[in-house]
Amino acid sequence: MAIRKIAQTGNPVLRKKAELVPLENIDSSAIQSLIDDMIDTKEEYHGAGLAAPQIHESLQIIVVGIGDSERYPDSLLTPDTIIINPKVASFSQDMDEDWEGCLSLNDLWGMVKRSNEIVVEGYNREGGSIEIQAKGFTARVFQHEIDHLYGKLFVDRMSSMDSLSFGPEFRRYSKMLKKEELL
Ligand code: NI
Repeated sequence: MAIRKIAQTGNPVLRKKAELVPLENIDSSAIQSLIDDMIDTKEEYHGAGLAAPQIHESLQIIVVGIGDSERYPDSLLTPDTIIINPKVASFSQDMDEDWEGCLSLNDLWGMVKRSNEIVVEGYNREGGSIEIQAKGFTARVFQHEIDHLYGKLFVDRMSSMDSLSFGPEFRRYSKMLKKEELL
């Protein structure tokens, strides 16, 4: 168990498609300790989610869980969910635009449109197949983390750069920016 260094934007690992994890390797100590490190690193930096490429491992593994409310004070707490080789099986047509940040774009924020509801399929850390339905902020975090596995960052998904904000300005002005003014 260890806290790992977070790759920052500009590092090519964040722009590569991550490799699928062979199912027979899921119970290996390398994969199991990588998952433990992802959980520890996400907690340490108060992330709502983390993808393996963010700790320099180009593998299709994500952790989603809002176990700390400091970075996302308006969100509901959800336990950590680990998904290996995740695939979005369905997206709702219904979308919502809201603020996102990323540990790999340190203290930069912007508004991103995402589907309100999704179904994600993949494998848990025991190697069992799982299907997860997610809504709202949790669905947003899943979409953001799965994007990392394909070399996409939230800024790529912004329909306008008008909301792009550094942390101090985000904390000062974001509540003033109405969603409809940004469309
Ligand atoms: Ni991110």
